[in-house]
Amino acid sequence: MREQVLELISEINEIQDKVLRDKVIACWAEAIAYRDWTNKELNSIPFTLLADNVQIMFIEHVRTCCRMAIACDKVLDEAYGPRKTPVNRDYLIAGSLLADVGKLFEYEKKPDGSIFKSEFGKHLRHPFSGVGLAFKHGIPSEVMHVIAVHSKEGAGEKRSPEAIIFHHVDFIDFELVK
Ligand SMILES: [Fe+2]
Repeated sequence: MREQVLELISEINEIQDKVLRDKVIACWAEAIAYRDWTNKELNSIPFTLLADNVQIMFIEHVRTCCRMAIACDKVLDEAYGPRKTPVNRDYLIAGSLLADVGKLFEYEKKPDGSIFKSEFGKHLRHPFSGVGLAFKHGIPSEVMHVIAVHSKEGAGEKRSPEAIIFHHVDFIDFELVK
């Protein structure tokens, strides 16, 4: 399962802290096992169920937002050096990669391969199920914060620097696709 996760999302290897990296892998492994998704199925889940004919896929969105978040952080480092607001790169990457992991509880597949919103998903959107899963695996609260406040549920909350960066790159991708 570990290999399946790393094959699916190679950006996990960008996390320097091995303990945190393994916890992120464990979260994805449990979420994938919940409905026995294969990587082929995972790679064909559309980014959003809210629009028709979406060309961008869910896993592509997760990986792209993570890479955009790292790129933003690097540009800020280069531009401002020691004057920059400190950002924990590992927390940023882990938060970026776990923000949407809860969507694997929100989604369910029909025998014909089509994807629909599960009963579970109607009760709990992915920021909540994502934090629940992360808590179970001992993910640091700084990273759970990124998951918790990344979407509309976080509006009005005071976001950490890592959460600010991820929230914005996520919405860049979402608003360009929807
Ligand atoms: Fe999300």
